[in-house]
Amino acid sequence: MTQPKFLIIAIDGGAAAGKSSTSRGLSERFHLMHVDTGSFYRATTLKLLEAGIAPTTDYALVAGLQSLQLDTAISGNNASITINGWVPDESIRSQKVNDNVSHYAALPELRAFLLDYQRSQVQVARDNGFNGLVMEGRDIGSVIFPDANLRLFLHADPEKRAMRRAKEGITDSIEKRDRIDSTRKAAPLQYPDGAIFLDTSELSLEEVIENVSKIVEPLRFA
Ligand code: C5P
Repeated sequence: MTQPKFLIIAIDGGAAAGKSSTSRGLSERFHLMHVDTGSFYRATTLKLLEAGIAPTTDYALVAGLQSLQLDTAISGNNASITINGWVPDESIRSQKVNDNVSHYAALPELRAFLLDYQRSQVQVARDNGFNGLVMEGRDIGSVIFPDANLRLFLHADPEKRAMRRAKEGITDSIEKRDRIDSTRKAAPLQYPDGAIFLDTSELSLEEVIENVSKIVEPLRFA
């Protein structure tokens, strides 16, 4: 049987737009490695907060970043970042991290620090026998993989997004994070030209995955 083509799928969108559930669904259906780059920004934010390093461009930030050794741990289809051997847990989803992450993510030094690491996940996916990777974030289709086989931009109405987070039992500063993420200078959250725009407000998760799978299927043997 012909081997499917190795696919890179980029999924961007605001907080709680449905990126993680969609990415997980696609990763299972097509055996793609799932990479949640939001967790990278969350994990580095937590480490910098713990080290008492403020979200400002200065020597302390540069030195702090240099002290972080990044690697990857695979669990099922999920690729998790590890920092100096630490595998991030639920602590990266705390209110404290929600409140601070966008300020750290706006720092060009942190984005540059994570850039090569994010791109290196392609090789990790190949080495681990995946059919490709699905990477979610804010700048995947615009900065990290502008040549991805598929670039999706997910949108959902603010009320729907708040409802999703409430259902998950999570207090999140969705609108505040989106505002900071879309107005920052470095790699802002924006709809990348040529990406496929999907409004998930009125769709169930199954419908979103079904719709996107119909786009992915023909790409696999193209
Ligand atoms: O995806 P999630 O909501 O967990 O992301 C947390 C934060 O990480 C975002 O609000 C954003 O500030 C930052 N982020 C980013 N670029 C990415 C992924 C996440 O700036 N590619």
